[in-house]
Amino acid sequence: VAQFDQVPDPEDADANGNGIGDDVEAFARFMRATKAPPRDPNLSATFDAQAGEAIFVQIGCAICHVRTITTASPGTAINGGAFVVPPALGNKIIHPFSDFLLHDVGTGDGIVQNGGPSTRNKLRTPPLWGLRTRAQFMHDGQSLTLTEAILRHGGEATFVINNFRALSQTNKNRLITFLRSL
Ligand code: HEC
Repeated sequence: VAQFDQVPDPEDADANGNGIGDDVEAFARFMRATKAPPRDPNLSATFDAQAGEAIFVQIGCAICHVRTITTASPGTAINGGAFVVPPALGNKIIHPFSDFLLHDVGTGDGIVQNGGPSTRNKLRTPPLWGLRTRAQFMHDGQSLTLTEAILRHGGEATFVINNFRALSQTNKNRLITFLRSL
């Protein structure tokens, strides 16, 4: 029960473990324990996908879509203490292709992210792992191809997207093949 809400709600957890809140907690645990889909083993072994990854780094995509990060140490309290990183999730090397930070890439919808008014036109870099399982891209799902999604980036990403525009068609295709292997 929140500090300013003393009235019991149906979604509260209860002492017997039967409240809806307990289901919410169990579901959240399940979601935290699910893994990102593995990369496509055949496609990621191709020359084109590997060359595409090098291009991805070279033209600056990886500035935001960071390949490798290490999760916080076990015991770290996050979200103001709402969650403490358990051993199973702490100090793990993961490949999300995201910095999990807010950026203005020109697609903001004016909705403030938690972080105050200055975040109005910012969006969190989406992880690109599992990208091949999705058919609609960007926060609004309005981009139906990867090339469209890339070309929609502006703002902070403008110089990187200009690098993309300057690639030969062959190298653009390699970059897309790399993305499709994720
Ligand atoms: C300045 C940081 C930044 C750079 C540089 C950047 N991106 Fe992004 N990318 C983002 C953000 C933020 C979004 C989410 C935008 C949205 O949802 O409207 C995004 C979204 C995407 C998406 C859609 C993912 C999805 O699941 O919907 C793809 C694909 C993507 N970026 C690929 C690239 C590629 C390829 C490059 C290099 C050519 C690149 N990005 C450069 C920050 C960046």
